[in-house]
Parts: sequence; structure tokens; C-alpha cells
Amino acid sequence: MTSVDSRTPAESAESAENARPDQPSVAAPWWTTAVVYQVYPRSFADSDGDGVGDLGGVRAKLGYLAELGVDAIWLSPVYPSPQHDNGYDIRDYQDIDPVFGSLAEFDLLLAEAHELGLKIVMDLVVNHTSDEHPWFVESRSSLDNPKRDWYWWRQPGADGAEPNGWGSAFSGPAWTLDPTTDEYYLHLFAKQQPDLNWENPEVRQAVYTMMNWWLDRGVDGFRMDVINFIAKQPELVSGPQAATDGGSPMGAQIHDYLQEMHRAVFAGRTGEHLTVGEMPGVSIDDAVLFTDAARAEVDMIFQFEHVSLDQGAHKFDPLPRRLPPLKQSLARWQDGLAETGWNSLYLNNHDQPRLVSRFGNDDEFRYESATLWALVLHLHRGTPYIYQGEEIGMTNVRFESIEHYRDIESLNHYREAVEQFDQSPASVLAGVHAMGRDNARTPMQWDDSAHAGFSTATPWLAVNPNYPRINVAADRDAPRSVFAFYQRLIALRHADPVVALGDFELIEPDHEQLYAFTRSRNGQMLLVLANASDEPLTVQGEWLPDDISGAELVLGNYRGDGSAALRPWDARLYRF
Ligand code: GLC
Repeated sequence: MTSVDSRTPAESAESAENARPDQPSVAAPWWTTAVVYQVYPRSFADSDGDGVGDLGGVRAKLGYLAELGVDAIWLSPVYPSPQHDNGYDIRDYQDIDPVFGSLAEFDLLLAEAHELGLKIVMDLVVNHTSDEHPWFVESRSSLDNPKRDWYWWRQPGADGAEPNGWGSAFSGPAWTLDPTTDEYYLHLFAKQQPDLNWENPEVRQAVYTMMNWWLDRGVDGFRMDVINFIAKQPELVSGPQAATDGGSPMGAQIHDYLQEMHRAVFAGRTGEHLTVGEMPGVSIDDAVLFTDAARAEVDMIFQFEHVSLDQGAHKFDPLPRRLPPLKQSLARWQDGLAETGWNSLYLNNHDQPRLVSRFGNDDEFRYESATLWALVLHLHRGTPYIYQGEEIGMTNVRFESIEHYRDIESLNHYREAVEQFDQSPASVLAGVHAMGRDNARTPMQWDDSAHAGFSTATPWLAVNPNYPRINVAADRDAPRSVFAFYQRLIALRHADPVVALGDFELIEPDHEQLYAFTRSRNGQMLLVLANASDEPLTVQGEWLPDDISGAELVLGNYRGDGSAALRPWDARLYRF
């Protein structure tokens, strides 16, 4: 986020390219050519042998990330926390949890990362705190405590019931009765994660002060956890009534809050910051408003449309996956943010199943499908995010019993479905296998030694049993290395303005196997042809350029790509 330039990335780049030598040129924001790598510190690398990843582990792997070529690291939360939701329940915003290290070690990490040209983006979790945060401890202590209004307290509804029927994202009601004062408090997530009341200006100032403290320390920006939920829609919080869960909790004040935050935190700063807001349930029209540089809210958002298409009645109810809805959805976002705003690009993170298992074939065509989705995603217009392990094609895990799982969302869901709704344990476990968040959270597989080289101790969550075969060392030695493919994609984004800024056009939107699109800019064109299926595919169509056989094959995931037909999970990038 830079405060001085309110033009869109496209406008800035245009003027930079057209600038005469005597005119000052303003480059497109740095993140238009950047790739971000998400580290989930608990599961990345353990340096002190307690089975939990830590900052020492991240420091030890900075060279690996520099070699991959990414520009920035988004660090999932490392603040002091009771860890009910693996650090997304924060007890102290201005320190480091001893399980991860110390502030002094954080400063070392930051300095070493900067030395290597890597930026560090912190996770900002301010929709809620931990119930052990001193703010909440005070707030719950009495009706007239000065911090009472920092959270959402409401009187019981009829017969002592919850103020309304809103559900929490982690099963059960979004309200919990606190016996100290006999009022309910709101928590959109676990009951250990009470929601902050952003309508209170003191809350907002406290958050901005904390953000400034981290930026003054040298961090390069924030990934903002469920940031659109900080503003609550009136139905949710207006007190005892019959309202049931009314969809998105987001309230209309969200834009005011983000603009105020921008003024209080970013406006006076020079330098290259990044702000990305996680925003479940928002539309493209919302996204244009959030990411329009002239409005000064956030640089980009994480939207959820494309990762919700395979969800039925709820998250753990997977639907059959089809290509057309997925590519059409991503294309709508490409079109919607083409003129104003900017997309972030992701196919997995710490909350989603592994992309090669979800969208590819993680067995017979693991290399091909992992690299196909990498090519497809990184050739879209926007800032790509790589989630740890994605760059070596790590897969989902299928633990045989719920005892092996650690994620509060999966555990709560399992308990509710089996105990309250009488579903069969096997069917509920199948849902967890397909969609559970622990798929992404099994420890990073570094090599084939004990515990995959992640730790010398038994890890907090078991390693995926496929680690002797799938690990960094093996991938980097392999003739067909997923890591090497990602390196080339990242280098391409750095070097080629068509990749960063070119116009996007989807071809054959209804085709069930073919994912094809072009990117064009200043008379240059890139064409992506990808066969997202286990079957060979002959590509035909009037749109196919006549001179394709003479075109430069920039990148492909098969060797000897002379053949016209696309092999299973064949992905190619041509330049014209
Ligand atoms: C976000 C995080 C997720 C967390 C939730 C509550 O969705 O990505 O991991 O559980 O917010 O903080």
C-alpha cells in the first residue's frame, strides 16, 4: 500500500511505459510483479525439538525461500495465544508466543529476511481476540467495566436463550453466556474467540496503535484475517430477536473502518507495504470498492467464490468438482477487477485442502497436475500466493480416525455431526478427509528422515505418511521437479509485464477438460493451454492461432512438446 499513487496498477504501468525521459515515471505497485509465500509456522520447521515449528525454523529456511524466488512471506500468527485455533486466538498483540520464539528472534528473522530481499507480512487478527486477552478479561469482569463495550454483550433472549439464532463458523451458536454477568458475548468463531466491537472508537485506535508498532518495527504489511467481519450487520447485533443465521455478518461500515485504518496507519508512510484482506462472502462489486486504489482501503482481498463451488450444504459436504464453474468464476473476477482494483490468486492455504488433491490427481499424475494448476494460477492477473508445501506438490492426508486430527473446526464438526445429528462416524470422517483444514497443516516434508526432517520430536500433528516419497529433497533431485517449475513461474512474473499486467481472456468457458486463456498487452500475447483431466485431449477451435506450431513454447510440464494433442494434465504456455 503506497499512499501517494491512487491510480490503478494498469494506469501506473501505462504511464511508466509511456513516460518520456523528462517526465517522472511512476511504476506499477511492487506487488503486481510479486509472489507471496505463506508460512504456517507451527508446521513449517521446528528448530528446538519440541515438535512445533518456530521462528528459528523459518530463519533456517529463508535461503530455501529466496531460492524459490518469492518476494514476500506471509507469516500466520506467531503472537502469544492459548492456541485453541492455532494462534488465530491472540492473547497479546505485541509479543511472540514462547512456543515460536521471542521478539528478539523475530527481529533477527525480519533483518535476515530483508537482507535476502524478502518482505515479511504479518497476520492481523482483529475481528476477535482470545478470551484470555486482557481486554476481554476486563470486559467480562463487570457490566460497568470501562472495557465492557469493547466486545459485543447482549442480554439473553426469551427463556434465557441466545440473543439470536446466529451460528458460529466452528459449529454451535455464535453466542456464549458468561455467568459473571449473565449476558451473552458474540463470537463468530470459537467461544474462545470473542468478537471485538469496532463501533467503539477506542477499539479502533488500539488496533491502529498496535499496527503502527509493528510497522515501526519494520514489518512490510498485513494479511487481515476475516477483516470484512469487523463491521457487523444490524440483524446480527441488534439484541434479542428471532433472527437466524442471516448469511454474511458484514456490515456497511466496513469501508469507513478500512479507510480510517488506512489514514491512521499507512497514509503517512513511504515504502512498500502490502495489505490483503481475507473477506469471505464478498461479491465482485464489493471487491472493486475494497481494492480501488483511489479509495485507499486495501491493496487486494482473498475472496472465496472459487473455493466454495465444491461445497454442498456445508463445508464438509463435498460436491463433485467440474472445471467450467471454476474457470468461469475466476474469469469473472479477472474481468470484474480488470479496470479497477486487483486480484489475489490462490488455490489453497492453511484453511483449504491441498490443491493437487482437490483439483488435480494426487496419485498417477501428481507432478503433472500440481504443475498444471501452478501454471494456470500464476498466469492469471493478480498476485499469486503459494502455501507451504504446494511448491513440492504436497497432498491431503487421510488419518484413519478422528483422534489424529487437531483442528478445532474439524473436531467440533465431527462431534456435532456424530453426537447431535447421529451421522455415521465414517461418513463424517470422509468429509474431514476431503475438506478438513489439517490437510494443509501436516508438517512440511523436508526429507525422508524421521518426521520428514520437520522436527527431531514427535510433531504436534502427524506427518503425512507419504513423506518418504514426497519431500523437498526428493523433489529437488527429481528430473521433473515441482519446485523448479514454480521457480520458473515466479521468474516469469518478475520479468514479463504481460504476465503481470496483460489483459485476460478465457477461451472455451464451457469446455469440461480444457483450461485455456490468453493474456495480451502492447501487441504481445501469451496463450495457456491446459488439459485438466486424466484423458488425452485434442485441442481444436477457430480461436487456435494458425501459427501455433511456430510459436515459442515458454513453459510446459511434459518433455518434447511437439505433439498437437495434450496429454493428461498437460499444461503449456506459448508466446506469440
Ligand atoms: C480465518 C483464518 C482461520 C481462522 C479464522 C478465525 O479464516 O484463516 O484459520 O480459524 O479466520 O480467526
